[in-house]
Amino acid sequence: MSGSAPQKRLYIKTYGCQMNVYDSERMADVLSPLGYGVTDSPEGADLVVLNTCHIREKATEKVYSELGKLKEMREERMAQGGARSTIVVAGCVAQAEGEEIMRRQPAVDLVVGPQAYHQLPELIARTHRARGERLAADFAADVKFDALPTDRRPTGVTAFLTVQEGCDKFCTFCVVPYTRGAEWSRPAEAIEAEARSLAGQGVREVTLLGQNVNAYAGEGGLAALVRRLAAIPGLDRIRYTTSHPRDMDEALIAAHGEVDALMPYLHLPVQSGSDRILKAMNRAHTAGSYLRLIEKTRAARPDIAISGDFIVGFPGERDADFEATLELVRAVGHASAFSFKYSRRPGTPAAAMPGQVDEAVKDERLARLNALLEAQQRAFNAAQVGRVLPVLFERRGRHTGQLVGRSPYLQSVHVSAPDRLLGQIVPVRIESAARMSLAGVLAEAPELEPA
Ligand code: 5AD
Ligand code: SF4
Repeated sequence: MSGSAPQKRLYIKTYGCQMNVYDSERMADVLSPLGYGVTDSPEGADLVVLNTCHIREKATEKVYSELGKLKEMREERMAQGGARSTIVVAGCVAQAEGEEIMRRQPAVDLVVGPQAYHQLPELIARTHRARGERLAADFAADVKFDALPTDRRPTGVTAFLTVQEGCDKFCTFCVVPYTRGAEWSRPAEAIEAEARSLAGQGVREVTLLGQNVNAYAGEGGLAALVRRLAAIPGLDRIRYTTSHPRDMDEALIAAHGEVDALMPYLHLPVQSGSDRILKAMNRAHTAGSYLRLIEKTRAARPDIAISGDFIVGFPGERDADFEATLELVRAVGHASAFSFKYSRRPGTPAAAMPGQVDEAVKDERLARLNALLEAQQRAFNAAQVGRVLPVLFERRGRHTGQLVGRSPYLQSVHVSAPDRLLGQIVPVRIESAARMSLAGVLAEAPELEPA
């Protein structure tokens, strides 16, 4: 930045998944040459972007209430003689219900779908001339990535990197195939260039992102991509999310046993443990085939941490189906997990299915499932006590002299440690465990890496 251009303030609020976190960073990147600097509050911002999530009804409704607040904030600011801020709705709600947003909230200046972020500078310039521009949705992901700047300015020692977008699986409950379009993979060269640029700026860990990241279609699949990135100097840790059991191939499982940089953590959503429900969900796997996958992966990498997503109260789910889910959870043993009440999404096949489940039944099932998953998470964390784990220090902790990092299993680890260890991977002796995090001490006078 030259420093002479007047800095305009950009506030981006991100909802939903990690893909949106990545997209928000990239939006900030394309807007920075126009003089926009990121601020952490909507008050006083010249440009406000809501990067939205459409996956469940609750996520969608939050957007409309936030827009109401932004509208009031803008009116107050203008009443005090301030400039008019620009309000942009991006992300999956923009893609799915752009017209409805414009109708329900006239304060919105621009609606832009996830595949058009590279056009933001031009679109914003247009809205400054005339209110109410609306972008037609398209899925030209290749154009977007080609048009985004290749050099990123990472904000820390870990970074997300999108390698794949979209989904062709059409699980019957899910809006993603409609909002993010067909599966599409970035070329490995472009991904490697972005990863090298990040590593050159001190990033030690990348998380490869895709709605179906293990369906990555570049040559050799995700396993080949992981091996390629593992060869980049300085890039010590690779993770990926989120995966589908159908695309969990032998090569990727083998990579878990062979590639040191590939972290022992697998987020592999199963959704349900009932074969009848899995079939109605169009998941193309059974509880048994899922368990065999987990077994194989554990054979390749015995300590791997397993995470998953679960839906309770899918249409037609009976007590016995739910019990089957609990049984599967017991058989797997999770390090972490996300569970959701089924949310009826307009336009998806499951929304029209008979046997919609009562909210009270969903609540009860969710509570029982969560109790089991939380117990498993505590047990997984407690099992680390006494071990020495390599921890990548990411940031300062809340207490002075404390750093927070991540174990290979993605657990947060709190340690009393000097600032110079930020960005380094250091052995830590784990002394205590809670549900969400671990605490420990530096295991030995760490070999400091050259600065
Ligand atoms: N209702 C509840 N949960 C859903 N998910 C996707 N669609 C729905 C829905 N309609 C969950 C799935 C998926 C995660 C990202 O969100 O578990 O894996
Ligand atoms: Fe949605 Fe299923 Fe695709 Fe995942 S695999 S994004 S749950 S349709």
